[in-house]
Amino acid sequence: MEPVTIQTLQAMKARGEPIAMLTAYDTPTARLVEEAGIDAILVGDSLGMVVHGHANTLPVTMDTMVLHCQAVRRGVSRALTIGDMPYMSYQLSVEEAKRNAARLLAEGGMDAVKLEGGQHMAATVRALVEIGIAVQGHIGLTPQSVSAFGGYRVQGKSAEAARRLLDDALALEQAGAFSLVLEGVPDRLAALITRRVTIPTIGIGAGAGCDGQVLVLHDLLGLSAHAPKFARRYADLGAVMRQAFEAFREDVRSRAFPASEHAYTIDDQTWQEIESALGE
Ligand code: KIV
Repeated sequence: MEPVTIQTLQAMKARGEPIAMLTAYDTPTARLVEEAGIDAILVGDSLGMVVHGHANTLPVTMDTMVLHCQAVRRGVSRALTIGDMPYMSYQLSVEEAKRNAARLLAEGGMDAVKLEGGQHMAATVRALVEIGIAVQGHIGLTPQSVSAFGGYRVQGKSAEAARRLLDDALALEQAGAFSLVLEGVPDRLAALITRRVTIPTIGIGAGAGCDGQVLVLHDLLGLSAHAPKFARRYADLGAVMRQAFEAFREDVRSRAFPASEHAYTIDDQTWQEIESALGE
């Protein structure tokens, strides 16, 4: 199958064909996500919470992101891969943003990067696009601003806030972003933004009117401690894993595991030689 490119996603929007995106953080999972025909894989900084157990995404570093991007890259050959720019890797200066975005591409093997923020990030997005880096914007409930928002709150709920979000979307499009993640935005506003921009919008907690949808893998698989209201759980792998661990524990305690087929054996004669050599 043809590799998915940013042009593929743009053509899908033009055809009205929904785009499916998922997060992944390691090689085997990324391979399965790709085998399932998912169009784009985001190595999200959500890994700070769902893989590393932090309370939010702020402690995630560039080195951690590069490591997980490399792992995902090894499992993917067709889907578009997008590496998330972690907290303070792009906000301090355009130069740092360039250096860090380039690391996600050159060291992490990603096809594109994603960063949070609207109009105030437009100059940074433009600078990255100008040096050939494909950028996905991310507006609405941007988790790196959780303290400023006073929690994980839906954004764009007043006329003024909705206007700001639309202006954010237009500014990022103007700056050359190839796509926008809309997170935690009322469904009608997300649909309006989707109509007003020519680039694909990917929603998460933004209703059915976006050009595509993304979920955090652990929410979809039933592995998150607290999945948000907008996530649909497609499997309860948490229960499946717990049952497997309990069965293993029982087998170890009852000596049902390992069975003879799990053991490495040697013939009687060799064993006699070993016994006599070891003074048994
Ligand atoms: O980090 C992440 O997984 C994300 C998605 C929620 C879009 O940014």
